[in-house]
Amino acid sequence: MTAPLTIADLKSLARRRVPKMFFEYADSGSWTEGTYRANEDDFAAIKLRQRVMVDMTNRSLKSTMIGHDVAMPVALAPTGFTGMQHADGEMLAAKAAEEFGVPFTLSTMSICSIEDVASVTTKPFWFQLYVMRDRDFVQNLIDRAKRAGCSALVVTADLQILGQRHKDIHNGLSAPPKFTPKHVWQMATRPQWCLGMLGTKRRTFGNIVGHAKNVSDLSSLGSWTAEQFDPRLSWKDIEWIKQQWGGKLIIKGVLDEEDARAAADTGADAVIVSNHGGRQLDGAPSSISMLPKIVDAVGDRIEVHVDGGIRSGQDILKAVALGARGTYIGRPFLYGLGAMGKEGVDLALSILRKELDVTMALCGKRDIQTVDRSILAHNPY
Ligand SMILES: Cc1cc2nc3c(=O)[nH]c(=O)nc-3n(C[C@H](O)[C@H](O)[C@H](O)COP(=O)(O)O)c2cc1C
Repeated sequence: MTAPLTIADLKSLARRRVPKMFFEYADSGSWTEGTYRANEDDFAAIKLRQRVMVDMTNRSLKSTMIGHDVAMPVALAPTGFTGMQHADGEMLAAKAAEEFGVPFTLSTMSICSIEDVASVTTKPFWFQLYVMRDRDFVQNLIDRAKRAGCSALVVTADLQILGQRHKDIHNGLSAPPKFTPKHVWQMATRPQWCLGMLGTKRRTFGNIVGHAKNVSDLSSLGSWTAEQFDPRLSWKDIEWIKQQWGGKLIIKGVLDEEDARAAADTGADAVIVSNHGGRQLDGAPSSISMLPKIVDAVGDRIEVHVDGGIRSGQDILKAVALGARGTYIGRPFLYGLGAMGKEGVDLALSILRKELDVTMALCGKRDIQTVDRSILAHNPY
């Protein structure tokens, strides 16, 4: 078999290497999965202008996101259960991101803890915060992120109640996995994955277990979220979080111009246009279709980033052309991780870089920082 050439190739390989319940946790959206599909499909409707007879030498993809240098304007999105795609998944992905020169964002719902990731990295990573009812626990998470040297806090605004994902319910998703015949069979047919898991102690939520009080049921994400996440979270709480944190702040999960204005009013450093990868409000528009409107509304006051549906360097270029200062990838790095561990995350990033670089050149640009809407032949949004 030839080495994977695309993110789709990595996805096929991950499907064969990761137990069904965890592969499908990544490859799923809420309810009808309409928004999940729209995130990918809507990129295809945007067309690039082909330019010729332009000097293509000395190209640069370097940029900054919230003042941090990045090798290309891409960060790894926070994703829960990452250490279940591959043993020690968050530690491996963070190392890959560090070596590549792009930010890694650790989820509150990670398997490896903040301290685990800090122990294998030398540069600061970013931490994503879910706000729980128990503010002492939130305060403690913020303090741990500070102690670990995290250089940005990403507050997720779009998941105070969980959007139902049918596949997770059918699959009986949990971490650690249950030992029913169905689950044992799923794992037994993925021997490489099992070997990795046998070699690590990290099989449940490293930021939660042993840190949060009254954690009665972590086996069902739905019931745990309902019990612990604070459904009253409001813009006022951002002020408190800002005070506790005192560093760079990013608000993730904004899909509406009015909400984007409220996010800019908080004094945050960036907003991420996102629908949680189509995993929350099914029926919401794709992230890329909302990006230009949000850039027009607040782009002069706050950095606008975007995630959702990016599967190629062409998609990254389109997002940058529509005004995104930075982009994030969730599933593309998870598929790489599930397929080949750290090497797969390295490969996912290299695939995206190569596609982005060549696509930019064929659009007649040499510097990603000069890319704007003029490189688009057709933009339905
Ligand atoms: C498996 C999975 C787990 C996720 N877990 C989290 C999470 O813990 N916190 C969060 O803010 N976003 C989470 N997200 C959303 C991602 O941060 C990001 O918004 C989304 O993956 C972007 O879409 P993409 O996967 O198409 O790139 C998760 C997404 C996936 C696919």
